[in-house]
Amino acid sequence: MTLKDKVALVTGGAQGIGKAIALRLAREGANVAIADVNIGLAQTVVIEIEKLGTTALAFQVDVSDPPQVEKLVEKVTEKLSRLDILINNAGITRDALLIRTPEQDWDQVIKVNLKGAFNLTKSAARVMIKQRSGRIVNISSVIGLMGNAGQASYAASKAGLIGLTKSAAKELASRGITVNAVAPGYIQTAMTEKLSQSAKDAFLNQIPLKRAGTPEDVANLVAFLASDQASYITGQVIQVDGGLLM
Ligand code: NAI
Repeated sequence: MTLKDKVALVTGGAQGIGKAIALRLAREGANVAIADVNIGLAQTVVIEIEKLGTTALAFQVDVSDPPQVEKLVEKVTEKLSRLDILINNAGITRDALLIRTPEQDWDQVIKVNLKGAFNLTKSAARVMIKQRSGRIVNISSVIGLMGNAGQASYAASKAGLIGLTKSAAKELASRGITVNAVAPGYIQTAMTEKLSQSAKDAFLNQIPLKRAGTPEDVANLVAFLASDQASYITGQVIQVDGGLLM
């Protein structure tokens, strides 16, 4: 186990990719805090993690709200003694063509996907700086690298996360903290279930490995980046996309 006794905080860990990450980190020995707006589902993940023999806690938190995030980080460090790993995974889509995108939808996507990661990074970094060690992994998207018709707000938020990742990596490197981004391609979750069959087929046709990714495909990389084995990797954007974008 590469993460024995480490403490991890996973946002949006109640389902999909975040859930797979929370379980994977726990399998490596980490104690895991899950922060999600959906507390009911988050609690079911806690039960699954406890079966693996590590400690897990669920918190109902909206990552876009700074006071809630500050309180979350305080509680996690109080209850689990430290904070070694932060995974900024919570994310939403409000897909529409640019000229039909309501201002509120644009704001909401940026608030959750980008400001949410800023809020968490700001609060968690204070703890990690004192510890002089830490791992931050931001879940971006290939859409942030390539853009996508109908996803301007989402693409902008995910591209923004890359800028946040590189800036934080430069600021925090001297304190023993690494910051990296993972850019998944087309992964089978509730988020992509909403896509039309033609949109799913269009993605599949462009993927050299000819299949959608699983949440576990993403979690495997995140677990590696969170471990000591990745101590010389920072400020990187690593794709998990079956070759979709190259
Ligand atoms: P999902 O919709 O299945 O899960 C997202 C989770 O985030 C849910 O548990 C939801 O309750 C939580 N969440 C939403 N808003 C929140 C908020 N304001 N505060 C706290 N929690 C909140 O999505 P999925 O597919 O698991 O995506 C996870 C991350 O991976 C997202 O950031 C997404 O943009 C990214 N991603 C997903 C891809 C895919 O193909 N599924 C591809 C590339 C990136």
